[in-house]
Amino acid sequence: MELQAAIRGRRSIRKFRPDPIPRTVLEELLETARWAPSWGNTQPWEIHVITGKPLEAFREANVAAMAASEPLRTDVPMPETWPEKLKARYMGVGKSVVTSLGLTREDREGRRRHQLHMAALFGAPCLLVVTVPRDVLVEYAMLDVGLFLQTLALAAHDRGMGTCIMAGSVHYADLLRRHGRIPEERRIIMGAALGYPETEAPVNRFERLRAAVEDFVTWVG
Ligand SMILES: Cc1cc2nc3c(=O)[nH]c(=O)nc-3n(C[C@H](O)[C@H](O)[C@H](O)COP(=O)(O)O)c2cc1C
Repeated sequence: MELQAAIRGRRSIRKFRPDPIPRTVLEELLETARWAPSWGNTQPWEIHVITGKPLEAFREANVAAMAASEPLRTDVPMPETWPEKLKARYMGVGKSVVTSLGLTREDREGRRRHQLHMAALFGAPCLLVVTVPRDVLVEYAMLDVGLFLQTLALAAHDRGMGTCIMAGSVHYADLLRRHGRIPEERRIIMGAALGYPETEAPVNRFERLRAAVEDFVTWVG
């Protein structure tokens, strides 16, 4: 796929087909993603690829924790508030998702179903969890993890797969640690659901928005 088309065509997938991804395909994907840049080539990431029974057990536990509204137990702090401009964008994508599912703001039951579907990783057959050692400066490791995930997401899109980078997959780090066999000395940063997209599902097709270049660029010189 041409690079421009890959960058513009990648989007977060929120409905996956259940088909498993062959191990060789996952290996190819990770082979590409490892070429992401990192601070001093430190490559702080370690990836746990969770599929099959362990993934089903995690999915069930994650949904139960979310359904019981358990307080989050993340390894890195999650934002609780946003500046107004960013909050508006956050609310905007939430509205697009809900509308594409045929729900309204008032449909609390439907919105809750969506929340639980999110906790169930949108039906993805694979979850990649990115961890870093506890003794690296997390602010910098975050950049490296972001670069790794974007590279992975583009490589997956190039091969006809879809991803959703998901804070919702790391809300309960202890559950991930247990089911994904992640050692205590690794900090869980972020997960990405991976699978073949339900391409016709409206939730995978709504129009996405971005700020215009002039809204975030200051030209100097
Ligand atoms: C760090 C991070 C965490 C995210 N967490 C979630 C999540 O928990 N649930 C979700 O539906 N989307 C999640 N997303 C996807 C964003 O909503 C999405 O990237 C954004 O709306 C832009 O849309 P696009 O990825 O389709 O271009 C996350 C994205 C990032 C980068």
